[in-house]
Amino acid sequence: MKFFADTAEIDEINALNDAGLIDGVTTNPSLIKKSGRPFRDVISDICAALPGPVSAEVTALDADGMEAEGRSLAEIADNVTVKVPLTIDGLKACRRLSQDGIPVNVTLCFSANQALLAAKAGATFISPFIGRLDDIHLDGLQLIQEIRTIYDNYQFRTEILAASIRSANHIKDVALIGADVATAPPAVIMGLANHPLTDKGLDAFLKDWAATGQSVL
Ligand code: G3P
Repeated sequence: MKFFADTAEIDEINALNDAGLIDGVTTNPSLIKKSGRPFRDVISDICAALPGPVSAEVTALDADGMEAEGRSLAEIADNVTVKVPLTIDGLKACRRLSQDGIPVNVTLCFSANQALLAAKAGATFISPFIGRLDDIHLDGLQLIQEIRTIYDNYQFRTEILAASIRSANHIKDVALIGADVATAPPAVIMGLANHPLTDKGLDAFLKDWAATGQSVL
């Protein structure tokens, strides 16, 4: 299973990358706003920081505009993935860009039928937002399961990129279902390493080691 960092903060990306924890990055207009930096500079810096896919989102609403923005974003670096919204125009842009070999991440997916359309349009990634479904008391994990079944039924190669992940349990659950990728805030990915029994055990080992008076080197 691949992990993508859902952030536009280069320091957070470098920290995760140094630990070998991420395979790519996803951004969106809200994350770019939060970074306070120029969009294209952010994408260029992230693409230089790691070789994996870096999602950069278009903001046009019509297919021609999305296609033009997508082609321009794809020129920033070889590892740019163009992110388009799950609308009919987004699907049209997805088809055109995909046919020219530009990878596309179709975002803002909230139903299995939307995911089916994205696969038919040639998307490289589909991004179902599980946290935002949970926020309105719908079942985000059920959506991931439904998409997994449909994609497997028809051997669609579109990768399921579970997005809007809020917790370590979300990551475990989408991994159990078989999502191809989870994109999550850096703190959630780093937090996967934490366990109180690890801390307690380490503390006990270090106390006993100190009592031996020895050193490893
Ligand atoms: O990048 C898309 C998605 O992961 C956003 O998550 O927490 O804003 O719902 P969130």
